Amino acid sequence: MRVGLPWFGEAGASGNDSRRTALPGCRVVGIGTALPGARVFNSEIETFLDTSDEWIQSRTGIRERRVAEPELTLLELATRSARAALVAAQVEAASVDTVICSSSSPDATFPSLACRLQAELGCPHGPAFDLQAACSGALYGLALAQSMIQSGISRMVLVVAAEIFSRVLDWNDRSTAVLFGDGAGTFLIGDHDQTGAEIVALDLGADGTGAWALDTVRYSPPEEVPRNPLPDYASSARALGRVVHMNGREVFRFSTKILEQIVVRLSNATGIEPDQIALFVPHQANSRILATAAGRLGVPFERFACNVDRLGNTSSASIPLALAEAERLGRCRDGELVCLVAFGAGLTWGGALLRWQPTGVVIDDPAGRESILRSAEPRERVSQDHKEVSG
Ligand code: ACO
Repeated sequence: MRVGLPWFGEAGASGNDSRRTALPGCRVVGIGTALPGARVFNSEIETFLDTSDEWIQSRTGIRERRVAEPELTLLELATRSARAALVAAQVEAASVDTVICSSSSPDATFPSLACRLQAELGCPHGPAFDLQAACSGALYGLALAQSMIQSGISRMVLVVAAEIFSRVLDWNDRSTAVLFGDGAGTFLIGDHDQTGAEIVALDLGADGTGAWALDTVRYSPPEEVPRNPLPDYASSARALGRVVHMNGREVFRFSTKILEQIVVRLSNATGIEPDQIALFVPHQANSRILATAAGRLGVPFERFACNVDRLGNTSSASIPLALAEAERLGRCRDGELVCLVAFGAGLTWGGALLRWQPTGVVIDDPAGRESILRSAEPRERVSQDHKEVSG
């Protein structure tokens, strides 16, 4: 960011251009998603918070979200989505040499979710680590996976974005509690010789001067603790003191502006105009953000994948969840361009342009088992996988 510009002023003003490497792009060889079964409608939130279904729907587009049952761990949710991606791609866990996880709501700080997932799946002992880029985590993971494959460190990478945000929310705070939901999504990434959607270009960025707009630890005002200012968590009953705080208006301004800028930067890097992009799959923060950004880009809102009405904001899991659903609905067509756009706390952002090719998708949803399908494989296998994934 240049001095004098507001923190949301200019994505990539450091001089970085969107990346379209000389090496052939990697492939998304499989996509898997997993959801908790419990659906929580706005009407239920109305019973304990001073809010209304009308307010939530009109300001955010959200009607319902999934909330993890108390016994469901993040590891279990992540494992289900990773297994779904492996089934979708017909790849054995033994072929995965690298596991990258993204979560802003981990069960523990360490060991990492990725290490525990590696053990759970029985993957070989290659690198396994978590990354923290908030809602942009899946795209940061996609970019890392591509770099690790292109540099020869890795051959087959699982990028797992898993969130149980319901456990880091202050359920007394109506300004945040109504927004989020739980879920997980996985990209299995392989090299260019594999089959699947090709990564054509990537764009990543961050501006830490906007960190205050969305965070999990607030610091007490100095007048309250004059000698030794302590973070709120020091007096919190919560083990890690993590609860989401957000300046909604600032996040709204940032999100709408950055979404447009990422698409423009990907367009400049590739020569592909926004109107040549068949489908936009943005981070599902809220439908007003998406509609505003679509308007700024001059792209019809119908070309934006939107499932925030049913899942709420699932943070880093939202893009794989929305992409899997779009594919299931027949919105990802061979040869067409699909643009993924993420933005989140940090502030962070990321974009990926994909050239769609047949890509296996498995959705593990206990609340809608009939929706589980595998797009690129014969029907017979679908029913087998259904049992394997969700049985
Ligand atoms: N129900 C009823 N009233 C509410 C609620 C609620 N759930 N939340 C806030 N309000 C009230 C406020 O208290 C305020 O009341 P007041 O005027 O009496 O003080 C009034 O509504 C307006 O509050 P604002 O915060 O100004 O509401 P706004 O119109 O900006 O909408 C919202 C809030 C929806 C959060 C909006 O700012 C927004 O969309 N921001 C984007 C943030 C977002 O979507 N974040 C997602 C997570 S971040 C990410 O994923 C990157």
